[in-house]
Amino acid sequence: MYFYQPSQGHGLPHDPLNAIVGPRPIGWIASQDTAGRDNLAPYSFFNCFNYHPPIIGFASTGWKDSVRNIMETGEFVWNLTTRELASAMNETSASLPHGEDEFFAAGLTKAESRLVKVPRVAQSPVNFECRLSQSIQLTTAQGGSHRNLADPR
Ligand SMILES: Cc1cc2nc3c(=O)[nH]c(=O)nc-3n(C[C@H](O)[C@H](O)[C@H](O)COP(=O)(O)O)c2cc1C
Repeated sequence: MYFYQPSQGHGLPHDPLNAIVGPRPIGWIASQDTAGRDNLAPYSFFNCFNYHPPIIGFASTGWKDSVRNIMETGEFVWNLTTRELASAMNETSASLPHGEDEFFAAGLTKAESRLVKVPRVAQSPVNFECRLSQSIQLTTAQGGSHRNLADPR
């Protein structure tokens, strides 16, 4: 039995949280900035939250391009990651300079979406065309911002 309080540190070589809450589905999120430049990135803090209307969500550990784009345009596309697409999905996590296109960098093809301007990954067998319903800034249990908390490791 191993007990730790996250605020006191875990005392292990690696933070066990990711390994404990796993496996996780991947939110492979395509978005577009207001200048029409496409963006694609994986988010494993992802899940489906409601049937009707269908609601999915992902969490970004920081203010990343996907978040900024979705906040600005209100649209995104979720793409299903298959075993065959795993390497390409990983490649799209590379932090390219803002505006550089992860679709091309990972050798993927864009296909037009029907309901949103954001393209989908053509190689992916399932795509959800999404509109932003909510954006939430997570807080600590005390209601404060967690972004300034030091990593207690
Ligand atoms: C498999 C995988 C899962 C990831 N999950 C997350 C996540 O849940 N939250 C997050 O902030 N970053 C996650 N990342 C890192 C982002 O993909 C990475 O920071 C990326 O550059 C963000 O792209 P963007 O700035 O274009 O949105 C993950 C990376 C990989 C390879």
